[in-house]
This record gives sequence, structure tokens and C-alpha cells, in this order.
Amino acid sequence: MKPVVVSGLKPSGELHIGNYLGMLEAAVALQTSNKYDCFYFIADYHALSQHYNPREKAEEIFTLAVDVLAAGLDPKKSAIFIQSHIPEHANLTWIFNTITSVGKLEGMIEYKEKIEEGQTPNAALFDYPVLMAADILLYKAEHVPVGEDQRQHLEFARDTARTFNKRFGKTFKEPEAILTRALRIMSLDNPQKKMSKSLPKGCLYLSDSPKSIKAKVRAAATDSFREIGYDPEERPGISNLVLIYSEFSGLAIPAIIKKFKGAGYAEFKEALAEILIQKLRPIQQKRLTLLKDRKAVMKILEDGAERAKPIAEKTLLDVKKKIGLI
Ligand code: TRP
Repeated sequence: MKPVVVSGLKPSGELHIGNYLGMLEAAVALQTSNKYDCFYFIADYHALSQHYNPREKAEEIFTLAVDVLAAGLDPKKSAIFIQSHIPEHANLTWIFNTITSVGKLEGMIEYKEKIEEGQTPNAALFDYPVLMAADILLYKAEHVPVGEDQRQHLEFARDTARTFNKRFGKTFKEPEAILTRALRIMSLDNPQKKMSKSLPKGCLYLSDSPKSIKAKVRAAATDSFREIGYDPEERPGISNLVLIYSEFSGLAIPAIIKKFKGAGYAEFKEALAEILIQKLRPIQQKRLTLLKDRKAVMKILEDGAERAKPIAEKTLLDVKKKIGLI
């Protein structure tokens, strides 16, 4: 059997190019290498730990599934499914709760941040890392592609594996993080802040129309140097645009600076918008086709769950035996 890769994507709004270049690109690359058994799921249970509107959440879950498929996750290669369709995730969470100390959960950075942001401190938000450990260990993952912000949660999953093994006998491998490239794609109109859906004017969504891409890129913040350059400290606006150009064109940053020597910002922005429009077009076409065919998408997700389920069931059965359940 090939080593297992597991990762989850939390449905909380539409995907933007920052998400695409980070997590998704890494997930697609691991799948394409054919070296791993990949399990990718929509972390819908995780998404419920924060305040939400039920109808919107249902739509977000579906749209995220569509977005990841359009962006290149391939159901022929990877098991793509919805977390809550495999009840073993929640069952194993409960069991892991019995070996998790409250003190450790209290120390989790993301939990503290969320509380500071004003999220209700419900038990699910508190228990978030335990569910994530269950997600990973259920499939005996060896590698987990995650962003830097999830590093502590991954460390938590490793500790959980170790604690469990010590108490009940060797059962789990300690998963390794594959840290996705720490690309900092900034908001177009506010390059001091990371691109995010909470800053909609500076956020380029995978679904943005050519018109909206042009408008957002034209309105992007630059500076008064009047020359294309790359210096994220001193010139965050133009540097961010150059970085995006580089990512979507495959051209290295110095080559871009050379290419646009003597060109004004307006010309560069037009070229950037063109590249984005071109590169996003096939993703958008696929996205539209999938959005119209809800049945086909649900079938893909059901098939993905079919593949994941026997593995999840086997792990849970083994765990139950080991911990003294009959
Ligand atoms: N917590 C992750 C995030 O916010 C999403 C996630 C849930 C996840 N379960 C996972 C990632 C398991 C990797 C493995 O991005």
C-alpha cells in the first residue's frame, strides 16, 4: 500500500486565488505524483464550530466541493468526500477526547484567536483539534499538507497518536506535516493585509468574471515609483501584483521585471488581468458545468465516501477493541 495523504478543507466562503495557490495546488500535486493514497475531504463538521447560517452553510459545502473539483482534485485519483458522511470521524473524536487534556486544548493558538475575534466559545470550537486529529489518524495518514497556521494542530495530532499508542499499544503512525508554500498573497487594495473574503474589494475569487478581474486589478494599490519592481517591504502593492503574475504565468520574478521594464502600471495591470482571465477560464468553465450538475457532484462525493468508509471502519473497530469496548 502507498503512504497515505489526508487533508481537509473547511467550507467557509468561496475560494480565492490565495487558497488556490496554497493548499489546493499542493493537494493536486500530491495526487498527481501517484505516490500516495490521497484522501481529501470537506471539513463540514469543523465549519459548524463557528457561528453560521444553515442554508448558507449547505451552499458553501456544495460550492467548495465544486471548486476543488474544478481546480483539479480528481476523483479518479483521490478519494474526495464530505467529513460528516463518515460518522467514524466523530466517533474517533469522542474516544480521543478521553485521552486529551483540557489544559492542552486551552493552549491552542487558533482557539484563543477565535475567542478574541468574538466567536462564541462553544465546546466544538474548543474540541476542534481533537476532531482534526481523528480526521488524520482514522486513515493512518503519514503526510498532511497544511498551511503554516495549522502546524500546531498537526503537532497535536502527533501527540494524540503517541499518547494513544503508549496507553493502548501501537496503533497509529505519527503524521508529518507537508507545509504548503508560505505564499503571502495580499489583498489587492490593502496590501498590508492577507487576501481574504473579509476584504472583498481586494479579493480575487476563482469565480470572478473577466470584467470583475479587470476592475479589481485596475483598482489595486500600487505606489508612486512608476516602475515595476519587487520589494514586499517597501513596495507591498506592486510586489503583490508581481507575485501573482509570477504564480499564474510561471515566469520568475526577475524575468517579469525585465519584461515590463519601461512599462507603466496600467499596462502591467492589463497584462496581469489577461493572464488571470486566461488561467482561470478552464477552472471556471468546469465550475459552471459542475454547478449545473448537482447530481454528478453528489455522486462523486458518495463514491469518495465509499472508498474512505471501509478504512475508517477498520480503524475504529481496532481502536474500540484496544480501548476495552465490546
Ligand atoms: N483545520 C484545517 C484548516 O482550517 C482544516 C482541516 C480539518 C484539516 N481537518 C483536517 C486539514 C485534517 C488537514 C487535515 O485549514
